[in-house]
Amino acid sequence: MPPLSNLAVRDIETLVHPYTNLAAFRETGPLVLERGRGVFVYDNEGKAYIEGMAGLWCTALGYGNEELVEAAAAQMRKLPFGHLFTAKSHDPAIELAERLKEIAPVPTSKVFFCNSGSEANDTQVKLVWYMNNALGRPRKKKIISRIKAYHGITIASASLTGLPANQTDFDLPIANIRHAACPHHYRFARDGESEQEFSARLAEELEQLILAEDPDTVAAFIAEPVMGAGGVIPPPAGYFAAMAPVCAKYDLFLICDEVITGFGRLGTMFGCNAVGFAPHAISVAKALSSAYIPIAAVMLPEVMYQAMLAESRKIGTFGHGFTYSGHPVAAAVALKTLEIYTRERIVDAVAAKIPQFQSRLNALGTHPLVGEARGLGLVGAVELVADKRSKRSFDAKAGVTARCAQFAQDEGLIVRALADAITLCPPLVITLPQINDMFDRLARALDRTLDWATREKLLVL
Ligand SMILES: Cc1ncc(COP(=O)(O)O)c(C=O)c1O
Repeated sequence: MPPLSNLAVRDIETLVHPYTNLAAFRETGPLVLERGRGVFVYDNEGKAYIEGMAGLWCTALGYGNEELVEAAAAQMRKLPFGHLFTAKSHDPAIELAERLKEIAPVPTSKVFFCNSGSEANDTQVKLVWYMNNALGRPRKKKIISRIKAYHGITIASASLTGLPANQTDFDLPIANIRHAACPHHYRFARDGESEQEFSARLAEELEQLILAEDPDTVAAFIAEPVMGAGGVIPPPAGYFAAMAPVCAKYDLFLICDEVITGFGRLGTMFGCNAVGFAPHAISVAKALSSAYIPIAAVMLPEVMYQAMLAESRKIGTFGHGFTYSGHPVAAAVALKTLEIYTRERIVDAVAAKIPQFQSRLNALGTHPLVGEARGLGLVGAVELVADKRSKRSFDAKAGVTARCAQFAQDEGLIVRALADAITLCPPLVITLPQINDMFDRLARALDRTLDWATREKLLVL
């Protein structure tokens, strides 16, 4: 292994890295990025990488967008901070809320701003509880999420998240959170079960779960249109159409986590439109500002707002909000981002690129290491297996996906290893030749992983 750079050594001694094996990291050190342009980022030695994950599913407009930089600078000069507490306000927050209401895929009464996807989903949980107290049904509090869902890492959001690493030894989940089955057909369908049949069974299981819990205690269902950090799992055919009537039957409030899928990712402005999910409330973040600055929002319906009004009358205030809720600089950048999406017809532009992205992705399904190639819109994954026929996974300790991500990095491509999957979620501005380039690099990384895994005798032959 080459010696660690001075920056790497300083990093190891000072930073705690999220989602990193902190012990292994002390040997490997970080990849230190210095700058970016378009879909490329450059490390501190000048090496270029295609940012195949748009950072963390978020830099939708790519890197080096001067309009966003200018929007931030202009707002900083004018009013660098303003808050929304105690009846204060400012233009950018008002305008951004109006804009979000205009483009909302479902009737939206009001917008509550926060700074991250986790805060948005934490807020969703609190607002459901608050609403049901206002509506005089204090027992109706349980929220149903799903195994392998990712909704963030604050205490309520991490509880909604259905991944062991976010809960083990953090003493989570909290009370009143339940997890329904993961809708991954390749992994969890029974032999011969079609996607439609699988969806119907999951809906039946959801109903059994609600009945077992007592419907009067179940308040809400939360879902991502496509599961992201759980390994990019698109819903099986008919999934939301099957789940929605069960939720309606027991009067569940529907929350759509659009933190990854909002603003064009699936070839529709909101992901819920692409998968046939009609929620009551929506969480957005990431592409809202193309990740140039943190901002997130909860888009909520009139029924919830009326309940909040009632509580506010009773208690004397609405006791929830962050110092940086609706920060004017973040709101100004988000407004400019939405303006660019409209001007550049981002939804149509993405829709035009999806066929090529998905066809290159699907073609990887024939690779000897790939058990399943799956995706929707401009997001996808390949699941690596030790044996294609039996779908047997590699032993997690062998670190095969991490190795593949490292080979991709050597090839100048940043991907993410998430359990058995290698995931892709490039900036929405990626061009068709760049899509080809990205998949060529990933194919080389898979070949190198195959050679390595063969040498290590990790494959079932
Ligand atoms: C679907 C989804 N929800 C919520 C979050 C949490 O967002 P944040 O990391 O901004 O708290 C993420 C982050 O990746 C996400 O993918």
